[in-house]
Amino acid sequence: MNKITIVGAGRVGESTAQFIAAKNLCREIVLLDIHEGAAKGAALDIQEVAPIFEYDTRLIGTTDHALMTDSDIIIITAGLPRKPGMSRSDVLSSNIPIIDGIVEGAMKYAPNAILLFVTNPVDVITYHAFIKTGWPRNRVFGQAGVLDSSRMASFIASETGFSNMDINTMVLGGHGDTMVPMLRYCTIAGIPVEKFIEKERLDAIVERTRNGGAEILALRQNSSAYDAPAASVTEMVDSIVHNRNRILPTVCLLEGEYGHEDIAIGVPAMLGQNGVIDIIELDMNDAEQTMFDQSAALVRKDLDLLKSM
Ligand code: 2OP
Repeated sequence: MNKITIVGAGRVGESTAQFIAAKNLCREIVLLDIHEGAAKGAALDIQEVAPIFEYDTRLIGTTDHALMTDSDIIIITAGLPRKPGMSRSDVLSSNIPIIDGIVEGAMKYAPNAILLFVTNPVDVITYHAFIKTGWPRNRVFGQAGVLDSSRMASFIASETGFSNMDINTMVLGGHGDTMVPMLRYCTIAGIPVEKFIEKERLDAIVERTRNGGAEILALRQNSSAYDAPAASVTEMVDSIVHNRNRILPTVCLLEGEYGHEDIAIGVPAMLGQNGVIDIIELDMNDAEQTMFDQSAALVRKDLDLLKSM
């Protein structure tokens, strides 16, 4: 993997560039933003870390879409973040025109790239880009579930005192209040989590996970989360770059999986060098399928809004 473009030199974009560089995941990172100083400043700052963290990644900050040329992966973080009290859907109408400009740039300059979306509402933005590009679904997908699952795992680690390394969680569905934590697939060293945490506490952890983004926004007031989102993107990129074929919750276009089509939503996906290699269909019980359907219905509301725009 030679070149990764990160669009948006805000906090998520900057942290993502930092993590990807620190892990030596590519030779060149282009940080693209409408604010030249922000892009160039972030790129230079991260470049100056290289001798300490020992990476050879070159960073370029720019406002020029042409520098996306030959990118293997384009990570889109640009857009207006929500303010306290706003839902992720509240930023849809502001973010669609921003995404359109970026996607047009990608189609022109990097028609073979993988597009990885972070901008909210990520499920709707991913769907919109899929339709706009006409690219195959393995190359147009989004990040949400890795973040939600990591949040949940960190809460379980704090609750139980067990190592984060042994905790496996899986959060599917839309990246919103109706996300679907799959408790049956949450384990500590392979042991179902219910063995260690009583139902009431587990319900509280699920609730806290659903509000994970809002919790940080309420604390910071002037910024959404950025470190955990950036780390989550980096984990997905790592699986792609190293062709690891990891199973990670990913915002994917569904073509009948989980009983849904014509929607992008979080499902377990195998990520390798061509992006989404496969979508893993879990057997869901009635309660899980109902939660998933409810989450999909909420995403579809935003899709309807999108179609009316
Ligand atoms: C979050 O959950 C901003 O959606 C992002 O923190």
